[in-house]
Amino acid sequence: MKFNLNKKGGVKVHFVPKGESIDSPVFVWAKEHEKFEGKGGQLVYFPKVEGEAEILLGVGDVEELSLYDLRAWAKKLAKLLQSKGETEVELSLIDLKVCNRKVLMAIYEGFRQVEYRFLKKEEEVPAEITVNYTAFKGPEEKLMEGLNRIQGQLDGVFFARDLVNETSNVIYPETLAQKAVENLSEVGVNVTVYDKKQIEEMGMEAFLSVGKGSDNEPRFIVMEYKGNPDSKEVTGLVGKGLTYDSGGYSIKTPGGMVTMHCDMGGAGTVIGTMYALGKTKAKANVTAVVAACENLISGHAYKTGDIISSLSGKTIEVVNTDAEGRITLADAMYYITNELKVDRVIDLATLTGAVLSALGEEYTGALTNNQEFFDNFQKAADLAGEKVWQLPNDEAFKRGYKSKVADFKNSGGRNAGTITAGQFVGEFVANDIPWIHLDIAGTAYLSKENAYLPELATGVHVKALYNLVAPMDEC
Ligand code: BES
Ligand code: MN
Ligand code: ZN
Repeated sequence: MKFNLNKKGGVKVHFVPKGESIDSPVFVWAKEHEKFEGKGGQLVYFPKVEGEAEILLGVGDVEELSLYDLRAWAKKLAKLLQSKGETEVELSLIDLKVCNRKVLMAIYEGFRQVEYRFLKKEEEVPAEITVNYTAFKGPEEKLMEGLNRIQGQLDGVFFARDLVNETSNVIYPETLAQKAVENLSEVGVNVTVYDKKQIEEMGMEAFLSVGKGSDNEPRFIVMEYKGNPDSKEVTGLVGKGLTYDSGGYSIKTPGGMVTMHCDMGGAGTVIGTMYALGKTKAKANVTAVVAACENLISGHAYKTGDIISSLSGKTIEVVNTDAEGRITLADAMYYITNELKVDRVIDLATLTGAVLSALGEEYTGALTNNQEFFDNFQKAADLAGEKVWQLPNDEAFKRGYKSKVADFKNSGGRNAGTITAGQFVGEFVANDIPWIHLDIAGTAYLSKENAYLPELATGVHVKALYNLVAPMDEC
C-alpha cells in the first residue's frame, strides 16, 4: 500500500452515517433503490461511468463507532477494491467523533492487513493500492506521528507472522536466533544468543530437559532495547519458543500436531515487538528473552515421571511431556526476573488447548499478580484492538499442581488448565515484581480469518505491548 496524506484521486469513498443524506447522485440512486441505509460497515460500489468509481460506506451511529469497527471496515473496503481491480482510492474523512489520529491509524491498519501473505507457491497477488487520505482535522505532525507508529507496529506484526508461519524445517532454535540477530541488530536492538553448552553452564536444567529429544540444539535468546535514557526502569518480555511441539512421549494426535510449528507464537510476538520498537525508535526500555527448543521423541528425550531441577532451584515432576511450555518458561522467567532484574514482566505463550475451549480464537486468556499493571495493559490492548480476558489468579487453584515428590508437577490436570498453567509459570517470577501472563494458544494462530486478522499466524499483541511500553499521548 502507498499511503498519501492530503492527496486526492482514485475511487471516491463517501462516509455516510446512518440516517444522514449526502449530496451525491450515487447516494440518491442507492436510497431510491433501497440499496443503502448507512449501517455500520455497509459498502455499495458504483463502477466508473464518467470520472471515477464511487463507494458508499455506512458508518452507522457515529456515537457508537469504535476503532475496532473502523479497522474491520477498512479491511472490508480494501478487499472490495481488490476484487474490483481498483488500485487507487480517495478517503476524505468526516467527523467521526474519535481522535483523528486514531482514525487514521485504524484505517491504515485495515488496508495494510489485507496485504499480508505467506505463500510457498505461485499465486496471483492483487495489485498494490494507493490510499489518498485527508483527515477530518489535523494537526498534521500528530497525524504523521500516528502513521509512523502504526507502520512500525505492523512491520513488527508482519515479521512476527513470518516467523510463526514458517514451518519447523525452516525455523528451529538456531535459525530463529539467526533471524532475531539479523533483523533486530539492524534497528538498534542488542541480541545475545547462548548455545546449548552455555545454557548448561547457566544452569537451566528445566529448559534443557524439554529440548533433549531433538537433534536441533536449543538456543537462549536475549534481546535488549534501550530507547529511554530518562528512565532506569525496564520492562521484561518472555516468549514461549517451542519451534515444534510433538508432545514428546505424551504424544499428540496427528491432527493436533500439524500446526505445532506455531508453538513459538510467543517468541514471534516478542521478537516482532522488539523490531517495532527499534524501527520506530520508541521511547522505552525493554528486555526480552526466548528459550527456544523442540519437543520431540528420541532415545535422549525427557520422559514422564522424570524429576528435574530448574534455574531457580525448584524441582518439577514431569507428569506430562506435552505440558512442556511452562517448563521452558520456568527458567526463562526466573532468568529475566532474577538475573536481568527487570522491573515488571509479561510472558506470552501458546500454552494450553484449554484456553481455546474457554475463549476460542477471539480472546487471549490472561492472569496477573498486579491489577494496576494489568489495567494498563488492558488499555494498551484495547487501543490495539487485541482482545484479552482476565482469569482469576486464585490461590485455591494452585493445589492442582502440587507434587508429592517435587516442588511442583508440570500439569494440574484438565480442570482450569489455563489458570494452573499460568500460575505454574508465575511460581518462577523472582522478587514479586508485577507480572502478566498471556495465553495466546487461541489467538496467535487462527484456523480462519476474523474481522481484521488473516488466517494462520496473527502476530497478536505486538501492538498492545508496544502501546504499553511506549504509550501514545492523548489526542
Ligand atoms: N502447545 C500446546 C498448546 C496448544 C494447543 C497451542 C493448541 C496451540 C494450539 C501445549 O504445549 C500443550 O500441549 N498443552 C497441553 C497441556 C496439558 C498436557 C496439560 C494441552 O493443552 O493439552
Ligand atoms: Mn505441548
Ligand atoms: Zn507447546
